[in-house]
Amino acid sequence: DIFGTRANSAGVDLADPLVREPLLEELARLETRHWDAGPTFPGAESGEVAPITSPQDLTHEVGTRRDATAEEIDAAIARAQAIQPGWNALGGEKRALLLEAAADAFEAHTPEFLSLCQREAGKTLVDGVLEVREAVDFLRYYAGEARRLFAAPIPLPGPTGEENRLSLAGRGVFATISPWNFPLAIFIGPAAAALAAGNTVIAKPAEQTPLIAALAARLCHEAGIPEEVFQLLPGGSEVGQLITSDPRIAGVAFTGSTQTAQAINRSLAAREGPIATLVAETGGQNAMIVDSSALPEQVTRDVVNSAFQSAGQRCSALRVLYLQDDIADEMLRMIKGGFEALEIGDPAELDTDVGPVIDEDARSQLERHIARRKKEGRPVWRRKLPKGTGKGCFVAPTIIEIASIKDLRRENFGPVLHVARFPAHELERVIRDINSVGFGLTLGLHSRIAETRRTVERLARIGNLYVNRNQIGAVVESQPFGGEGLSGTGPKAGGPHYVLRFATERVVCIDT
Ligand code: NAD
Ligand code: ALA
Repeated sequence: DIFGTRANSAGVDLADPLVREPLLEELARLETRHWDAGPTFPGAESGEVAPITSPQDLTHEVGTRRDATAEEIDAAIARAQAIQPGWNALGGEKRALLLEAAADAFEAHTPEFLSLCQREAGKTLVDGVLEVREAVDFLRYYAGEARRLFAAPIPLPGPTGEENRLSLAGRGVFATISPWNFPLAIFIGPAAAALAAGNTVIAKPAEQTPLIAALAARLCHEAGIPEEVFQLLPGGSEVGQLITSDPRIAGVAFTGSTQTAQAINRSLAAREGPIATLVAETGGQNAMIVDSSALPEQVTRDVVNSAFQSAGQRCSALRVLYLQDDIADEMLRMIKGGFEALEIGDPAELDTDVGPVIDEDARSQLERHIARRKKEGRPVWRRKLPKGTGKGCFVAPTIIEIASIKDLRRENFGPVLHVARFPAHELERVIRDINSVGFGLTLGLHSRIAETRRTVERLARIGNLYVNRNQIGAVVESQPFGGEGLSGTGPKAGGPHYVLRFATERVVCIDT
């Protein structure tokens, strides 16, 4: 069996009242719990303390974040460096068992994670369930990779009588720098891969979502991963800069914006010490192409889902929909029907489809973008925000008509869908335009014409192409995820080449 026997997490069946009702009661109990995040090994001096509030209600404090100081960062890296050879020597099998124990602990603590996904990150319950599943899947998948890749050296040919073998080892201390939009899955995924490969990890979560990261780190420690091996250092960009400019860091696994990845790349290049590995997973300007052979109901469902689930705050989300011009009016009418049916509001409500965006900065940036397009005279459709959203960072879902993807200067990270039209004979020009913006993360295609699919596959410079379905929600192992160009370095998260990037290769040659 080439696919092995590992199964992805079953998650939580919200359709089953026997599962859903006790979960909702537990979430109600957790609504007032106050959480803290601080460095794994607190030093003598205390860093800045900041409140963490809910994006849907800025008056609701979920907990506090205590930032790591420069001394704590220095001591943490020294500790991680000292213990790394021991962690590496433990071998793939033992590291795998520890990662699997962490996965079990994550599943057992699903309600706390769901509560934090809602309260700290503004995620709907459905998004929270997907987030916990993905985190568990990453832990188990990379545990399997630790077993597969680190079990025994690979024997190599020795035609002259020498014994040759190749083995893999951890590179040293890896820094993982993660974003707020997958505060659990992308906090733990790169860390689990680095640990699987025999590295120790210094993890800096996003400043907006340290509480869920602190719970994840604590559960890893309780599952048996030593605290020195996996250390949490909360803080913002300054903490990230101090970590990534340290010459003792052997590699950085970063997920976030393209600009930050470029800043980290420059910082790694400028420092003393060994040449560091950078794994960067960044943004996208993701398009979907729909031609006249597509099934309209299916397109409607997939467009609304790809653009507006998670309030559009997925790197994979649909930003620019290209409709073939002879079906565009009818397709837009149907898409607007789906768009009008979206429930906007408190993510704690079970039927909410679109919650808040992460913070006031994100909200005002999106509003500025929409206002500019209106001023240019573009057709704009907006939903009205319902009552009760005034205390939070809500952006009314919006559809804007534009001429081309080239009109957009940056990724607009929220519930905003742009629509452009194209004549059938200009398919190749559309693909060239999409390529020309330099991102290469996801692309959707709705077409029943095999030749069209072949053309898109041949020409599109894209990490993940989705045909006749939505373009979000890549599944660990089935759809390894990641882009090219401005969208990242690869290798793909949740795929068979990912853990290898965290390892160094050693060859031993013995003359007999
Ligand atoms: P961001 O770049 O602002 O921040 C990401 C992380 O980098 C945070 O932890 C932040 O504190 C840290 N950071 C910021 N400046 C730094 C610096 N100079 N040095 C070191 N660390 C620094 O991104 P964000 O707003 O948190 O996340 C949203 C972005 O992430 C979007 O662009 C989205 O497309 C992208 N994203 C990509 C993927 C993917 O797999 N390709 C997945 C999720 C999110
Ligand atoms: N892996 C996430 C998705 O595919 C980003 O939506």
